Amino acid sequence: MDISIILAAGEGTRMKSKLPKVLHRICGRPILDYVIRASKNANIEKNYVIVGHGGDVVKESFKGTDVLFIHQPIGENYPYGTGYAVMQAIDYIYDNSNVVILYGDTPLITENTIKKLMEYHKDNKYDGTVLTAYVDDPTGYGRIVRDDKGQIMKIVEHKDASPEEIKIKEINSGIYCFKGKLLKDALSKIDNDNAQGEYYVTDVIKILKEEGHRVGAYLIDDSREIYGVNNRVQLAFCEKIMRKRINEGHMLEGVTIINPENTYIEPGVKIGRDSIIYPGAILVGDTTIGEDCIIGENTRIESSQIGNGVRIYSSTIEESIVGDGCRIGPYAHLRPNSRLGKNIRIGNFVEIKNSTIGDNSKAGHLAYVGDADVGKNVNIGCGVVFVNYDGHSKHRTLVEDNAFLGSNSNLVAPVVVREWGYVAAGSTITHEVERESLSIARARQVNKIGWVNEKGLKREK
Ligand code: UD1
Ligand code: CA
Repeated sequence: MDISIILAAGEGTRMKSKLPKVLHRICGRPILDYVIRASKNANIEKNYVIVGHGGDVVKESFKGTDVLFIHQPIGENYPYGTGYAVMQAIDYIYDNSNVVILYGDTPLITENTIKKLMEYHKDNKYDGTVLTAYVDDPTGYGRIVRDDKGQIMKIVEHKDASPEEIKIKEINSGIYCFKGKLLKDALSKIDNDNAQGEYYVTDVIKILKEEGHRVGAYLIDDSREIYGVNNRVQLAFCEKIMRKRINEGHMLEGVTIINPENTYIEPGVKIGRDSIIYPGAILVGDTTIGEDCIIGENTRIESSQIGNGVRIYSSTIEESIVGDGCRIGPYAHLRPNSRLGKNIRIGNFVEIKNSTIGDNSKAGHLAYVGDADVGKNVNIGCGVVFVNYDGHSKHRTLVEDNAFLGSNSNLVAPVVVREWGYVAAGSTITHEVERESLSIARARQVNKIGWVNEKGLKREK
């Protein structure tokens, strides 16, 4: 069985944050989550994450997943270094497994690259393979030192490199694949006799080579994949690349994104063909959008299911379901657990919460629909308020099919409007509106003729 060891015990000081570095998010997911997913998608069954600083917090945030955490002891009395980190997992390394070593702070690594590294490692029957890249500025990275036949000999850290070695532009990504047994043997032989006084996992390469084992280097084309996050500038850089990847993925599957630069789509979101996404859209969480939709400017959709042919403009939709052909916005707000049927019109400044609305119903302007079950073909007039809260508890309102709620009426829950029931404009309804009836619940109009002159109220122009 293949396993991965993901190193994530470093402090991440340069993030200047209370939050452990690997929990900072790009495109809505923790950095570490991307690495774990890439590893799993590369068919690595067991994934061990080495945590140190903030380890409990990191572990807690992956509760309920099958990721395994190992605590690396951190502090002045303990050794440090990538080699020491890998040693923490030594009891979990099978002799006959391939062990892929990854970093928890490189979210751009892809499953494809991990797969290719493993294939290269296996096909060439290497005992250890390191993923390398050419970079313009290799400052700070370990350098790949090759012999005159081009075979990798060792990796030297920047701080330990000779003036000749410093010039090398092929760098160590920090990602490797090793045969389990040989990795364990070599780890027992590394020391911390180097410029940083750390145990370097890079020394495993040198030891394997010295002992006559086969060591390979797999060169990656796109060095951005191994880009690590150390500060928030790098965090934003990774976010930008990830966003581009996600958006291009959708575009190549038939979604039009007018301006991908300012369209924010999280990795879990699914979008059907021929949907068009306008600038400023933010699509997050477990969201599905159907085909032929228009997701208009500045629309936020969070963990919601949107049907086909839906048009939404400048609106916010949270944890809700929207049926085919609905038209929403501008400036509508669907709060959690709103379930809309088909061809519904929700217009400007309408808020819906924890309610179902049947097919072809309309709430065109300025309404609040909370804790209600609204049937089909219902007209919710301008300014209608479902009065669901009495200051103590919430109550539900039932409005049956074909009812008509006149403008500026209040439905004081719990209350029922029966089929074809009409509520007169301006009514405050506290009792059932019966089937096929009109309910008027407001004071009758009184006209006082000549009242203005009687009171002498005319003003000088
Ligand atoms: C390491 C490599 C270097 C490579 C570079 C790529 C070594 C000795 N050097 O250097 O060749 O070019 O990565 O980025 O391996 N970590 C732990 N526990 C530890 C120490 C580190 O979990 O005790 C984790 C860190 O959280 C980090 C990763 O290992 O995710 C790399 O550690 P870091 O100290 O940044 O290594 P570099 O000095 O950058
Ligand atoms: Ca580093």
